Amino acid sequence: MPAAFPIRRLRRLRMNPAIRSMVRETRLAREDLVQPLFVCPGQGVRREVPSMPGVFNLSVDRLVEECREVADLGIPAVLLFGIPESKDDQATGAWHDQGIVQQGLRAVRAALGDRLVLIADTCLCEYTSHGHCGIVGERGEIQNDPTLAVLARTAVSQARAGADLIAPSDMMDGRVAAIRRALDDAGLSNTPILSYAVKYASACYGPFRDAAQSPPSFGDRKSHQMDPANAREALEEARSDLEEGADLLMVKPAGPNLDILAALRRDVNVPLAAYQVSGEYAMVKAAGARGWIDEAAVTWELALAIKRAGADLIITYFAKDLARRLGRS
Ligand code: PBG
Ligand code: ZN
Repeated sequence: MPAAFPIRRLRRLRMNPAIRSMVRETRLAREDLVQPLFVCPGQGVRREVPSMPGVFNLSVDRLVEECREVADLGIPAVLLFGIPESKDDQATGAWHDQGIVQQGLRAVRAALGDRLVLIADTCLCEYTSHGHCGIVGERGEIQNDPTLAVLARTAVSQARAGADLIAPSDMMDGRVAAIRRALDDAGLSNTPILSYAVKYASACYGPFRDAAQSPPSFGDRKSHQMDPANAREALEEARSDLEEGADLLMVKPAGPNLDILAALRRDVNVPLAAYQVSGEYAMVKAAGARGWIDEAAVTWELALAIKRAGADLIITYFAKDLARRLGRS
C-alpha cells in the first residue's frame, strides 16, 4: 500500500523542470511523425488551403522541395494525397500510371532516394466525379465489391511508382485482402499495408475535402465509415483488417477517439497510427490566430495525448511545427 498524505506528496516530483523531465512517462520524437501532403497538377504551384492555414496544394516540383524540407527536419514519412487534373466515375486518376500521386511518388523518390518513407493514401473520392470513395450504382449506392478491384489496381500502381506503404482509407469491406492479393500477384509482397481500420464518419474531415476538392456531390460517407457511437465495432474492424493482412492499423480522427486507441493498444500487437485530421488542425489554427489559445502549447499537448493513448505514429498537419521543436532522439 502506498503511503498517504502527509507522508505522500505527489507534488515532490513536479517541483522543477529537471525532475519533471526525469519522471516523464511519454516523450514525443521526430520519428513518431508523419506529414500529410497534397499534390496537384501544374508547375510552381503552392496554393494555401483556405480552411487549413499552413497547408498547401503543391505541384510536383514544389512537392519535391517540401519533401526535402520534411526530411531535413528529421520527419521519417509523408502521406500523399492527390488532386487530379480531371475526375470521372471510374476514378481513372487514382490508378493511372500517369496519375498525379504516381508522378509525385516518382519525383520524390528520384530526388530523395530512401530518405523519406512514402505512404500513399488509397481511396477513390479524390478521383471520382461524384466525390464518393467507391463505384456508385444505379440507385446512388456505393458498391463494395466492384470498388475492390479499382482500389487494388490503384495500390499496385502506387507501389510501382515508389510508394513504400499503401494506406487504404476507403472503408470498403475486404479491401485489405484485395490489396494484399494484388500486391503479391504483382511481385510486391514486401510492400506493407497501413489500414485505416477504424475510420469514423466524422465532421472533422471538412477542411480536408476543401484541400482535396473531394466533397461528395450527394449523400454522405456513413454507409462505409463507422458510426462515432460505436466502440466494440472498432475492435471488429481492427481484427478483420489484421486477418486480411494489414501490417499496421490506424485510428481516425485521433483526438475524439483516444479511448479507441487505448483499447486497440491493449488488444493488438501491430504498430498503431493515429491521424489528427484536418478539422482538428483547423480548430487549433483558428483559435490560435485569434489569440484565444496558445497554438504551440496546445499543439504539443494534443500530440502528447495521442502518443500517451497508444499511438506509435502520429499523422498530423503539425508534423513540421512539432519537429522544429524536437531534438533528434
Ligand atoms: C479519403 C480520406 C479522407 C481523409 C483521409 N483520407 C476524407 C474523407 O474520408 O472524407 C480525411 C483526412 C483529414 O480530414 O485530414 N477517403
Ligand atoms: Zn475516400
